[in-house]
Amino acid sequence: MNRTVHFASDNYAAVHPEVMAAMAAANEGHDVAYGADAATAAFDAAIASTFGEQALGFPVFNGTGANIVSLMALSPRWGGIVASEHAHINVDENGAPERVGGLKILQLPSVDGRLHPDQLARYAGDLGDEHRAQPVVLSVTQSTELGTVYSLEAMADLTYAAHELGMRVHMDGARIANAAAALGVSLREATAGADVLSFGGTKNGAMLGEAVVVLAEDLRSSLAHDLPYLRKATMQLGSKMRYVSAQLSALLTSTDLAGDPLWLRNARHANAMAARLREALAPLAQAGVLRFTQPTESNAVFVELPRTAADAVRAAFRFYDWQAGATPGTVEARWMCAWDTTAEDVDGFARAITEALETAR
Ligand SMILES: Cc1ncc(COP(=O)(O)O)c(C=O)c1O
Repeated sequence: MNRTVHFASDNYAAVHPEVMAAMAAANEGHDVAYGADAATAAFDAAIASTFGEQALGFPVFNGTGANIVSLMALSPRWGGIVASEHAHINVDENGAPERVGGLKILQLPSVDGRLHPDQLARYAGDLGDEHRAQPVVLSVTQSTELGTVYSLEAMADLTYAAHELGMRVHMDGARIANAAAALGVSLREATAGADVLSFGGTKNGAMLGEAVVVLAEDLRSSLAHDLPYLRKATMQLGSKMRYVSAQLSALLTSTDLAGDPLWLRNARHANAMAARLREALAPLAQAGVLRFTQPTESNAVFVELPRTAADAVRAAFRFYDWQAGATPGTVEARWMCAWDTTAEDVDGFARAITEALETAR
């Protein structure tokens, strides 16, 4: 079979062989359904060793599900969820927080996907006003939808400010591995004060599977009780859970000879490929024929280029337009690298972009 390569999303990537091997190892005989199985017990241990003994993990099927279960767990019926205008929960979940969770998203503007503590004041005044959705949860995305990464200090300041206002903090960690790899910190450090994490596996080499991870010690006992019901009621309880658990455990615990876990190796590689792509395109940006619209801090490169050139490149490589470009006749494209993107893939893609831009001139 010919190997195809695209730059559309990290969820276009194949499944990492170590994840496949972990699923194959779990694929032996019968085991108890709905999570009382050996692979899920190993996953529970991996969550405790990664995020601390106080943490609790609940495997789910997808990132949208992880977000909805997390937000519903943190919010009463009258809750509002403060988030960036670019947040996946705001723009890419078909209103699931509102439709499924009954939760209103309270948007804040953001130029680079990140939020700043002083922005919380926009909704803090609504606390205690029965006419307003109560801003009880702040949801942050790490790394952000625009490929940027909060520094540990910036994230800690933000979560501190939210807690000071009495808000809980949810982290959409669909790409927390990329953020932790970029920051050179552990997954636990990367959570920097969040109470509940949507832990991403799919974009990091899994077949499918994410987890809701309760991080805050003071929530452990109430959410240990509530979350199983919530996960089932939101259709995120897998009967053959062992196969999701095995994948997530492989990402967390499968190490190479240097002792590096799979999540780190995969994320570090995807980030390095994005950096390589940016470097290859830098001369074009200097020549003014394309424009980087965001810093490249994780595994995404955002650029503005002429629509004709973008469409010519698309004949061979799939990718998404993020939005119309700021200049007429241009588009802003998002180019994403994955654990299995190779240096040759990147170089071939950069050549195709260069040729298309020369033709477009
Ligand atoms: C930031 C972020 N959060 C969550 C998700 C969850 O996605 P899905 O429900 O497709 O697994 C995605 C997927 O693109 C994402 O980019």
